[in-house]
Amino acid sequence: MSDKRVLLIIGGGIAAYKSLELIRLLAKAGVKSRAILTKAGAEFVTPLSVGSLTQDKVYQDLFNLTDESEMGHIELSRSADLIVVAPATADLIAKAAHGLANDLASTTLLATDTPVLMAPAMNVRMWQHAATQRNVARLQADGVHFVGPDEGEMACGEYGPGRMSEPQAILGAIKTLLADGPLKGKRALVTAGPTVEPIDPVRFISNRSSGKQGYAIAAALAELGADVTLVSGPTNLPAPLGVRRVSVETAHQMLEASEASLPLDVAVMVAAVADWRPAEAADAKLKKDKGGVQAISLVENPDILATLSKPGKKRPKLIVGFAAETDHVEEHARAKIAKKGCDWIVANDVSGDVMGGDNNQVLLITKDGSEAWPHMAKDAVAKRLAIEIAQALAGRSALKK
Ligand code: C5P
Repeated sequence: MSDKRVLLIIGGGIAAYKSLELIRLLAKAGVKSRAILTKAGAEFVTPLSVGSLTQDKVYQDLFNLTDESEMGHIELSRSADLIVVAPATADLIAKAAHGLANDLASTTLLATDTPVLMAPAMNVRMWQHAATQRNVARLQADGVHFVGPDEGEMACGEYGPGRMSEPQAILGAIKTLLADGPLKGKRALVTAGPTVEPIDPVRFISNRSSGKQGYAIAAALAELGADVTLVSGPTNLPAPLGVRRVSVETAHQMLEASEASLPLDVAVMVAAVADWRPAEAADAKLKKDKGGVQAISLVENPDILATLSKPGKKRPKLIVGFAAETDHVEEHARAKIAKKGCDWIVANDVSGDVMGGDNNQVLLITKDGSEAWPHMAKDAVAKRLAIEIAQALAGRSALKK
């Protein structure tokens, strides 16, 4: 970590005092930090305390002539390997989500192509407000990483999510994002969760997929340094650290978002895509007293895995499909490799409690061989699969024939 640099933006919140501790922890880990202190931030911590800890100048004004001549805001935004916004206030998050640039912090965030990590801190109602949630989702789709907020007692006396993560947890996230893993520079797509196919504006066809396995795989690939896009149907899961999440509902939207993530080194299709959708989705709610629905006619959805697997210049180098089977697992999975044109299949027996559960037992099947993995946590399956993927992309297959 000794050659890494962090640009810390300290926003205006009571949690700003924790940022001083964060600077100290970064220094201990050998990471150099430089700080921007917003006007509101300076109401909570002084430039003198920040500067004493970073042992550097503290940047505060967009239109400071001396600063601009020594280190312009554009250069400042690119002088680091990672920009950390802590505390990330509702205001800073909103500005970044909308691309506003009316002070040094927001201008720096707009001018940068460096990865950004935000540690939100605000009152629980501000955090839960639809506007903040919308802004966070927007930033996640833009590739901004988040750590926290934590749940607990707040300075204002209320209780709930909104507390800034502890400095140790923020340091952990920083280390993950700064690590040079074996998948550094590789682009990965993971599809996860169910799809939702509308019957009318309030009713839909879907399935019981929780998204847990796909989210764990996206997290594991990101931990190894991959640039991960997670195209997800509706789930209750937070976006994993270091992952760009694109939220979709229907199979068609999932296909479109998946194709938009090309070019790719690896695609892992874990989503439980609804095989069929209602041929027509009614524009208005169907009424019982108007005869209701006699029957719903269904049409087949596009097969995302098969579409991406088609030979051609744009085909990802490695494509991994999943197969949920209840019998003759290996036989059906092998047939699926041939039918879909993918490279590997991770097959699991879903006759037990795999759907929605925390554990999984899988069989990894490639064109060359297969390997039965022991019963383990979905997180462990994800980590092992991510390592197999890294090996394969490096031209080494760990798989026994
Ligand atoms: O055909 P089946 O649904 O069993 O195939 C499962 C695999 O195909 C999974 O990897 C799933 O994500 C993918 N799939 C897909 N698009 C579909 C159906 C399945 O990508 N429409």
